[in-house]
Amino acid sequence: MKKAKIALIPGDGIGPEIVAEAVKVLWAVEKKFKVQFDMTEALMGGAAIDAVGCPLPEETKQVCMESDGVLLGAVGDNIATSPWYQLPPELRPEKGLLELRAAMQVFANLRPAILHPSLAASCYLKPELVANGLDILIVRELVGGIYFGNRGRKPCEKGGETAFDVMEYSTYEIERIGRVAFEAAMKRKKKLVSVDKANVLETSRLWRAVMHRLAEEYPEVEYSDMLVDSAAMELVRNPARFDVIVTENMFGDILSDEASMITGSIGLLPSASLGETARGLYEPIHGSAPDIAGQNKANPLATIASAAMMLRYSLGMEEAAFAVEKAISGTLEQGWRTADLEPAGKPFLTTSQMGDKVVENLMLL
Ligand code: IPM
Ligand code: MG
Repeated sequence: MKKAKIALIPGDGIGPEIVAEAVKVLWAVEKKFKVQFDMTEALMGGAAIDAVGCPLPEETKQVCMESDGVLLGAVGDNIATSPWYQLPPELRPEKGLLELRAAMQVFANLRPAILHPSLAASCYLKPELVANGLDILIVRELVGGIYFGNRGRKPCEKGGETAFDVMEYSTYEIERIGRVAFEAAMKRKKKLVSVDKANVLETSRLWRAVMHRLAEEYPEVEYSDMLVDSAAMELVRNPARFDVIVTENMFGDILSDEASMITGSIGLLPSASLGETARGLYEPIHGSAPDIAGQNKANPLATIASAAMMLRYSLGMEEAAFAVEKAISGTLEQGWRTADLEPAGKPFLTTSQMGDKVVENLMLL
């Protein structure tokens, strides 16, 4: 029997509710595909701060490094009201996630934005713009750039303070994420847009030069550059023109939220973060949604789809991954929706009811 070790990090806000639904689906996968998962829960983010006083306990790091895949819900809370944000920056919830990404060296964050045909009514764009559906893959650099550069404050001679966050990229960091993107494009429609701000930023000028060098190695890929402000505009003007987008950490954070809304709801988009080994970190791209936490209202589909990506990329269980994805689209085609989506003639489902529906559809496949 095929076995795999999975680390589960429920985290904060809606995290525990949505991870619980993905676990139900993984249990169903065990039954249906005769595989066995050894799942270990670990603390991170605010939950870890409350329990042990730091956002990424050593034990959590160890559990993750010893697993084949890590499935994460969300971390963080409302910045304006939560006591966690009174702590020094290095002890805040998000720092746990950033440290884990760095410790696992998962530099390539794959964020597929797919518009399910049955969700066309939930798309915010004019129907004719998405008539043929949407299937965009955002490849975001995840362990470099301004997220990990030097930052701090210093006195300002005009009074007050000066704050700074440094953005740095080295050739090797650009090259390795670029390769992931070109390889991904080769398996898809062979179109790649690299997003930067080369008219202003030096990091972007190096980024562009490295990408151009790589483009010569992949003559079959139709490659182009786009400035990030243009890309933000094109994503709502003509999203269907995109196949694969590759970009640095912060631009990727912003553009992937934008892409998710185009596909109907931020509650639908999964992500996979990969490094040089098969071990990966899987998380929905949305946050902890503290406003609806604990209400059994959140959409668990992005987390369930993240578990499917884990089956595919880290556990070598393609058949099961495909089946989970099919169960998700089947559930949507039947008209089942959580409250973040446009209703489709059926009452809204709670978080746990949505998980049950996916399990039901999976077992029927
Ligand atoms: C994401 C999130 C994180 C990020 C936060 C929680 C640190 O927004 O995964 O997109 O900015 O990377
Ligand atoms: Mg984000």
